Amino acid sequence: MIKREYWNTRLGLILAVAGNAIGLGNFLRFPVQAADNGGGAFMIPYMISLLIIGIPLLLVEWALGRYGSKIGHGTAPAVFDSLWKSKIAKYIGILGVIIPLVVVVYYTYIESWTLIYSTFSLLGLTPSTPVSENPQHYLEPFKNFLVSIIGANSQSSLFLSVPFYTYLFFVVTLLLNLYILYRGVSGGIEKVARFALPAIFVMAIILMIRVFTLSSPDGRNFLDGLGFLWNPDFSALLNPNVWLAAAGQVFFTLSVGFGAILTYASYIKPKDDIALNAVAGASVNEFAEIILGGSIAITASVVFFGIAATSQIASDGAFNLGFMALPAIFANIPFGQFFSFLWFLLLFFAGITSSIALAQPAIAFLEDELGLKRQKAVLILGVFLFISAHIPIFIKGALDELDFWVGTFGLVVFALLEAVIFFWLYDSKKAWEEVTRDNDINLPSIFYYLMKYVAPLILIIILTSWSVQMLPEKMSQHNVNIWIARGFIIFMIVLSIILVKIAWERRKNGRAST
Ligand code: PHE
Repeated sequence: MIKREYWNTRLGLILAVAGNAIGLGNFLRFPVQAADNGGGAFMIPYMISLLIIGIPLLLVEWALGRYGSKIGHGTAPAVFDSLWKSKIAKYIGILGVIIPLVVVVYYTYIESWTLIYSTFSLLGLTPSTPVSENPQHYLEPFKNFLVSIIGANSQSSLFLSVPFYTYLFFVVTLLLNLYILYRGVSGGIEKVARFALPAIFVMAIILMIRVFTLSSPDGRNFLDGLGFLWNPDFSALLNPNVWLAAAGQVFFTLSVGFGAILTYASYIKPKDDIALNAVAGASVNEFAEIILGGSIAITASVVFFGIAATSQIASDGAFNLGFMALPAIFANIPFGQFFSFLWFLLLFFAGITSSIALAQPAIAFLEDELGLKRQKAVLILGVFLFISAHIPIFIKGALDELDFWVGTFGLVVFALLEAVIFFWLYDSKKAWEEVTRDNDINLPSIFYYLMKYVAPLILIIILTSWSVQMLPEKMSQHNVNIWIARGFIIFMIVLSIILVKIAWERRKNGRAST
């Protein structure tokens, strides 16, 4: 077996893990989810979901990863196979490789937009727009700008007409990602995190301070924005959709249920702490999410456009707050070009430390299960990502379709499987021992009940209500575009089943010959 890598230092590990968790989710997705679900109404379900399912499942994933380190395998197929003595365990585990791999295909593409926007801001190529009372009118030039970058103005019902520079920026972004992965866990990922994480915080704090000094002609200031997010609204607690959105956001932001935490945790030493690492990583992430992420986009938009318009902008589209409202606001303040540059550079840094985390499970699979050298693994992944990315780049609606099945639905399924395999199919007593051993802090025993009963139960409820609410509508969509995206996911499943078969054949032969 090839020697596995380890993180170099504790600080480096925590920064890498924070870089994994802090991403586009914190600065783009969170503000949109919060604004779309009533601001203060969203925050209570968010906090509750964080405490009773987010953190417990995060610890489960860390424990599975450390277990992987012990057995020398950093991916879910091998970990599940070792815990649950069933033939299908390893095939179920492939979700922990496919989910992050499909997400990284479109995540890097969105990441490349942030590079386009920051470059264009710096060069003064973003639109400028006069202040007007009507936000719709105000956002128009920025809407057209985004539409032209992603080619959404095409006449074809199937293809987007992406300009060449968008394609070029994507290729550059992909190459940067691959280069970091090529340098390895401690030599690439950890090194980048040491530099990128502090940079993310500095940029976010500068932007936050700038937003806190904004005011509108009719007297709104940042307190109105903060009030929108932080004045609790108990009436929405009875709305199941707000709960689903909140729980979904908690998973997404903590990177739980993707398999990416499992892989990162597999690079700690088999007897290292997980509890303090997990809690530290999650704390840094939550600071970046609710303090920094909550104080930039939403707050600026409430100051300029008011609460009602901000909710409207958020519900009009996932990218409208970050890619339209914010640059439109910056276009109307002194040195706005610079702040716009900073905002998109922040997104780019946050994005790239997450996309490398999303790609690493696939690398680990090629290395640990198929015995490939890192260089070769990165090359194969690079070719694969480059080809696959043509689907979200060129096919209308494919990005959303992939995001629904994998980035929303799939991760809840996988998180449920992790908890059930560990605490029900393996052995709950041994699982709890595995979670609590060798840690630097003690976990209260309530976590045992949260991991074994509460979290799985809530996940089942979430899946059931999604299935009832969304699946019938989803399944009735049958256009070619949608089926290309679904076909890609099905192809991935088939491909990885074959690869797992090959890997386990290899293992059997390897064992027989030694
Ligand atoms: N947590 C990241 C974000 O907030 C997304 C992500 C998920 C990254 C899983 C890595 C692994 O954007």
